[in-house]
Amino acid sequence: ACAPETTGDLRKMDTVAHRGASGYAPENTIAAFDKALEMKVDYIEIDVQRSKDGELVVMHDNKVDRTTNGTGYIKDLTFEQLRSLDAGSWKGEQFTGEKIATFGEVLDRYHGKIGILIELKSPELYPGIEESVAQELIERNLNHPQNEKIIIQSFNFESMKKIDALLPKVPIGVLISSKAHTTEQALEDFATYADYFNPIYGIVTEDLVNQVHSHGMKISTWTVRSHESAEFLLSMNVDAIITDFPDYVDPRN
Ligand code: G3P
Ligand code: CA
Repeated sequence: ACAPETTGDLRKMDTVAHRGASGYAPENTIAAFDKALEMKVDYIEIDVQRSKDGELVVMHDNKVDRTTNGTGYIKDLTFEQLRSLDAGSWKGEQFTGEKIATFGEVLDRYHGKIGILIELKSPELYPGIEESVAQELIERNLNHPQNEKIIIQSFNFESMKKIDALLPKVPIGVLISSKAHTTEQALEDFATYADYFNPIYGIVTEDLVNQVHSHGMKISTWTVRSHESAEFLLSMNVDAIITDFPDYVDPRN
């Protein structure tokens, strides 16, 4: 893994649109990613999973029930079945007909225009998904540092070690939801393969931010859905804030 440069203490704070601008459009769809692009955020965050017949698709939940008109697990549905679902109307009538996006479509439509923070969601359900993700990036020449803002993250640390071996030049993040993973030893271990330490904002303190930086990692934190949490994190010197509402973090939006 290989982290982008930082300039001393002058760290630029990036805004990351969580599942796209998901406060304003159906999460993880082209509508939400286009909205994020329009809002001029630095990155979109996407969740990647896999259909029964091997297509990489962008969706957060393991089941399609909450965000589409279908039912069942993504892993039990073919791409054709997934593609026939309506992934927009749950968020509002104006989004009716929005389709589940593929990983490839998102890469093709947005790379070079906006950063892409790729989460491997529940990779333990999809043996070999690391190889498929790596292949899609390599096919598009997106496995090189600096020239494209591509980062891969997961709650599954073993999966991120695999990605680090497959894509040594792509920055990697570990997603952290427990204080148990904030010890000096844990940070030292993460720093052997990760470039980003990405905690839930409830465990963020000034000390944690300094500790993460002293291990040479950046810190991106989630998920901002209120003005209060945005204000708190803006005072914390984090490197990125992951939010459903990009305008709460950066008023230019
Ligand atoms: O990017 C961090 C965040 O997406 C992790 O939580 O459940 O929204 O995927 P979740
Ligand atoms: Ca996510």
